[in-house]
Amino acid sequence: MTMQRNLYRDALPMSGLYQFTTDPNGIGEAERWFDGLPAARPIAVPASWNEQYQDLDDYCGTAWYERREFVPEAWRSRRIVLRVGAAAYLAKVWVNGTFAGEHEGGCLPFEFDVTGLLECGQENRFVFSVDAAQHPDRLPPGNFPPSEWLGPWQGQHPANNYDFYPYGGLHRPVYLLAVPIGRIVSVRVTTQLDAGRARVACAIAADTAAFDRIEILLDGERKAEVPGGARTGEAAFELPDPVLWEPGRPHLYRLTARAIQGGQPADEYTVAIGLRTVAVEGGQLLLNGKPVFLKGFGKHEDFAISGKGLNEPVMIKDYNLLNWIGANSYRTSHYPYSEEMLDLADRLGVLVIDESPLVGLMRRHYDAGTLERCKVLLDEMIARDRNHPSVIMWSVANEPTSNEPAAGPFFKALYDHVRALDASRPVTMATCYGLDDVAVGHFDVISLNKYYGWYSHPGQLEEGERQLAVELEAWRARHNKPILITEFGADAVAGMHHDPPRQWTEEYQAEMLTRQYRLFAKTPGIIGAHVWAFADFKTSQIYMRVLLNHKGVFTRERQPKLAAHALKKLWTEPGARTNETETS
Ligand code: GCU
Repeated sequence: MTMQRNLYRDALPMSGLYQFTTDPNGIGEAERWFDGLPAARPIAVPASWNEQYQDLDDYCGTAWYERREFVPEAWRSRRIVLRVGAAAYLAKVWVNGTFAGEHEGGCLPFEFDVTGLLECGQENRFVFSVDAAQHPDRLPPGNFPPSEWLGPWQGQHPANNYDFYPYGGLHRPVYLLAVPIGRIVSVRVTTQLDAGRARVACAIAADTAAFDRIEILLDGERKAEVPGGARTGEAAFELPDPVLWEPGRPHLYRLTARAIQGGQPADEYTVAIGLRTVAVEGGQLLLNGKPVFLKGFGKHEDFAISGKGLNEPVMIKDYNLLNWIGANSYRTSHYPYSEEMLDLADRLGVLVIDESPLVGLMRRHYDAGTLERCKVLLDEMIARDRNHPSVIMWSVANEPTSNEPAAGPFFKALYDHVRALDASRPVTMATCYGLDDVAVGHFDVISLNKYYGWYSHPGQLEEGERQLAVELEAWRARHNKPILITEFGADAVAGMHHDPPRQWTEEYQAEMLTRQYRLFAKTPGIIGAHVWAFADFKTSQIYMRVLLNHKGVFTRERQPKLAAHALKKLWTEPGARTNETETS
């Protein structure tokens, strides 16, 4: 809802074609490419660059983008902000040759005030440099020296320290926003439900103290008022007989903050809100006080040609398939997804575990400096996503080396930081370790990535299932906290069949998922099971990846494998553990 258009605000989409050139030797700034790119070629935004030209596959260096855009004369009296949905990994921006700012981190938005850098009523030049290099101290990390490798797979090419492709590019929409000189900067909404009434609290931030007041409207009806004369303020109101937000009936209200200055409206900022509560109690996940069992997937933002770029037809297809298969949730593995994806989850009633980009952290990261950088990433993610009713849980990290002593206090500090920012949602992290994990016990939910029958007990589905049940009981005895299976699965190359089922065949994947989901569904204390993965996805090159990671139950083109039909049967058959009511 950030790209607001109303009587006081306007937005100019800057998606489309840009001029593009690579900068493998890093000479672009010295040669002032921000005054105009040398020999360039067209590129599409939003999208990764990697699959748009063959020579860009595996290019993890710096590239430059240029676009000339006409800025309306009518914007002369406005503040003008350039907003980038996401740029992987480190972006710098120039407007008409003047540096506007830079941002590190490839999965969250950033914006620069460019009011004084451009001319209204004429074309202006916008130049971006985007550096996608892998580095051990970037978050997420890559290119570790072999001396730090935990296993040969860390020698993959490119050498990112995670199992998905390190795409580069302007991955999400770019906008020019026209806003009032003095504006509302953020609206934070928290809701509480009590005895059939909702209490809605709004925290407003503005970049001016000049407003007389800020009115709070719900679906157009005035409900409360934030006093003026300060840059921040709060207001709350009660709502009798609220229509709650939940899967199957994702009711959204429109909450508008209207700033009044000199007796006249001066700005408006609207957010879609859903009234719901989420909690973990007695080993269960409660949504609006009712137990819910999470059925779904770990996913990736990945598709042919567009790479990690926002691809709205694919987004529509994915939500269609989540509904078709009977899923009620997904995890944004392993980084925050686009705002568009979360807006649609709100509208469609899909539950989301919102995960940070902290994947693949290792011993070298467990220091005070990196801890502060991780907190900044979590701050940005929570600030962007906290108003989404679909976001029911934060996931702080995926598969750090959380069996190392230093990992305990490091992730406890991140847990405490997230809870201090937002006490309205449970917080988790996903571990691939066993009971030697020293970090996940600090969290509200224990998230486990388990591959019995694949990485262990290959070809031994019965024995793998037995060992899995033993480990689950050990986790329950150790922590007595709700357990979410965030990953379980097997690679299956679409079209590969064998009887009896063998690894890499569709039959093996289908049988393994069926067996293990049934185990999870009947084990007390397990609040859900997410299959790894929704669809096949691109990874770096290494011997155990056949172009893609094939653990998808759908192909990369979103065609169902046998496992998709097996899960649909499991998740939609009468008596399946559903979201409405639970039989524990
Ligand atoms: C890990 C990891 C995933 C990876 C998966 C696999 O658990 O979290 O990102 O793709 O295993 O090996 O397929």
